[in-house]
Amino acid sequence: MDNWPAGFLWGAATSAHQTEGDNRNSDWWSFEQAGLHFVPEASGAAVDSYRRWEQDMDLLAGAGFSDYRFSIEWARIEPSRGELSSTALEHYGAMVRGALARGLRPLVTLHHFTHPLWFHEAGGWLAPDAVADFCRYVEAVLPLLAGVERVCTINEPNILAILPALLAGDDTHGLPAPDLATGTVLIEAHHAVRELLRERAPHVRVGWSVACQSFEPELGAEDVCARLAHDREGRYLEAARGDAWIGVQSYTRTRVGIDGPLPPPEGARLTLTGWEYAPRALGAAVRTAARVTGVPVVVTENGLATDDDALRRAYTAEALAALRDAMAHGVDVQGYFHWSLLDNYEWGRFGPTFGLVAVDRTTFERHPKPSLSWLGALGPRPPH
Ligand code: BGC
Repeated sequence: MDNWPAGFLWGAATSAHQTEGDNRNSDWWSFEQAGLHFVPEASGAAVDSYRRWEQDMDLLAGAGFSDYRFSIEWARIEPSRGELSSTALEHYGAMVRGALARGLRPLVTLHHFTHPLWFHEAGGWLAPDAVADFCRYVEAVLPLLAGVERVCTINEPNILAILPALLAGDDTHGLPAPDLATGTVLIEAHHAVRELLRERAPHVRVGWSVACQSFEPELGAEDVCARLAHDREGRYLEAARGDAWIGVQSYTRTRVGIDGPLPPPEGARLTLTGWEYAPRALGAAVRTAARVTGVPVVVTENGLATDDDALRRAYTAEALAALRDAMAHGVDVQGYFHWSLLDNYEWGRFGPTFGLVAVDRTTFERHPKPSLSWLGALGPRPPH
């Protein structure tokens, strides 16, 4: 296969809270102001994309990409319960139109980790009205979806569901397990929004994006690993059966011993997030996701935090080779989005830089890295 399949999505991804700045009505903003233990640094102006989104899209389109995954911020749309901001609605409508005008197909994420503060204070996903509240927000943004082909309902529900453990002060090494009750409501919310969009925006192909962690058992830990993989990933993939596509987000692999997840092996190369450098994990991730869900895969995030852009290219080339390999073995993959278009606020820190574009944190000037045009040129070529 020397070209990508027809219609293959080729893009980069961002999220609102990590790039826009001043997301003051969100729960994360309040965690940052309170200096909670998992947020050493506050997002502040982030990378000012609320004002500079046109420049960001110009960079992406100019480098040859055809797709952009970004999120709509619920906390801006509905800053207090039942009050809709016409300014925010107009803003995201302009972003969708702006993407289309540049030849970028928008893949819109409705929820990327942050909630309105009022929703969090009312009990978050465990409050009785949580799913209804989320659906009401989605109804409010329906008019913005004209021309949008794909929507991701909730980003990484299996990571979002660890929030209760983080808030309870869990600082165990690695990630805590997702909260089962929260995860169950997130699945319910996904299904409710899927139905809503099927009825009210039938042109949209609905999916969600799961953190696919390529769990690998140590010898003797096969059963432990299978159970853990189901609780932390499998049940969220199973919930995508019947969706139009499944979003795979892959960064590294996770080895599992009889007592649970293990740290990276002694001497392994680590990225700036402390994760093992494991680009081929993407191949395993898409195979698992396709097998469990039975639906086409879109890689909605893949990348690494590094200050060495040559390493970014090496990692990405190897990840794409593993993706090609899985596709050659029959996995239906419909697109690839790199995480991230921009260096941004990595949930508590600016240090781990994932971007194809660097941002000067004082002037907010954008500086494309060589990987931007390199990756842009690897995308689907128009048929002769
Ligand atoms: C999230 C992104 C995050 C990235 C790197 C994913 O968990 O969707 O928001 O920045 O991985 O940690």
